[in-house]
Amino acid sequence: MDDRDPHAHGAGDEYGFDTLAVRGGFERTPFGEHTEPVFLASSFVHDSAAHAAARFAGEADGFIYSRFGNPTVRVFEQRLAALEGAEDCRATASGMSAIMSVLVSLTRSGDHVVCSQGVFGTTIQLFALFERYGVETTYVALDDPDAWRAAIRPNTKLLFLETPSNPLTEVGDVRALAQIARARGIPLVVDNCFCTPALQRPLELGADIVVHSATKYLDGQGRVLGGAVLGSRDYVSQALQPVIRYCGPTLSAFNAWVLAKGLETLSVRMRRHSENALEVARWLEARPEVERVRYPWLESHPQHALARAQQGGGGAVIAFDLKGADDAARKAAAWRVVDGCRLLSITANLGDVKSTITHPASTTHGRMPADARRGAGIGEGMLRVAVGLEDPKDVCADLLRGLTG
Ligand SMILES: Cc1ncc(COP(=O)(O)O)c(C=O)c1O
Repeated sequence: MDDRDPHAHGAGDEYGFDTLAVRGGFERTPFGEHTEPVFLASSFVHDSAAHAAARFAGEADGFIYSRFGNPTVRVFEQRLAALEGAEDCRATASGMSAIMSVLVSLTRSGDHVVCSQGVFGTTIQLFALFERYGVETTYVALDDPDAWRAAIRPNTKLLFLETPSNPLTEVGDVRALAQIARARGIPLVVDNCFCTPALQRPLELGADIVVHSATKYLDGQGRVLGGAVLGSRDYVSQALQPVIRYCGPTLSAFNAWVLAKGLETLSVRMRRHSENALEVARWLEARPEVERVRYPWLESHPQHALARAQQGGGGAVIAFDLKGADDAARKAAAWRVVDGCRLLSITANLGDVKSTITHPASTTHGRMPADARRGAGIGEGMLRVAVGLEDPKDVCADLLRGLTG
């Protein structure tokens, strides 16, 4: 490949982020197609018995079987790796299978994980499932580096955080936590779902591994499920690839194609999501029915300065708490806002051009014990809105109906 070919380059080279998002990772076939083709093929043909043997032995390049390698999936992996500034990437069927693959790749029975409180509810369920296989997890406050340091044991095999967190939008100091991890020789894993590399690049801040629910902003239009794990070439080839090959949490070629096309508009979308969300967050902050708004780009956010230092925008997700005399009144107020919506979609998904609203305490975090949920700061009066690309004034008008109803 030519030295000036954007497809041969990663972020940090001579091509900018937006160029890599549009063109990275794609090599034309001899047909000369202008856009990325979809290789819906489960297996690939070899030239001869010797060629097949060489590929199976890893001595010759080429695809063998789509469970562990497919040309369309590779386009998505290489494009995302370029955007995250990662040496390599493996795509998975969902965000949860990405996190599961990291756990399988780094832990065994008797090991221990340190994770931030207030991560996505299903991530907590996944870590709980791993207790069955002898992997224990300790939860610590995202914003308390001393608590992370204190929670590390000799058998700790990874530190895991989400920043900003779902749904509280708490911001973790990736640089500070990376230093702690490095001092103890433990990989720091960051779920970069809310920001995407368009707004935050954890590997540049010192993290070792990034995971994604590509279902969210990487797709951006609510079409497909997908996930990804990014890290060093050694980690991906030696620890992760065997998990992909033997467990098969594989992304389909069609979904990879949708996601690769999603990356082409990522930076434009994330910029507009952030502008729209800031407008809605400021409006909510001025409403008398609202107790508190949590959005990293608001000056009132406790980690606003940190968010400004490590993110390029606030992202789309806002959490806000409604006033009420007690839990029952706060829950009723929250449900009134949800039920008053005619424009916002009542769905637990986020990462869509269509704005969505959910009541975390009774949906995404409903399976958490009530005490743990309260402890994590997810109250009965909290709502999470993922602001889409509609006119933000229409989003505010939709929320107003339930707020004043
Ligand atoms: C922060 C975060 N990580 C991971 C996931 C899981 O992703 P998926 O639904 O693609 O499995 C989600 C889903 O909402 C999420 O919000």
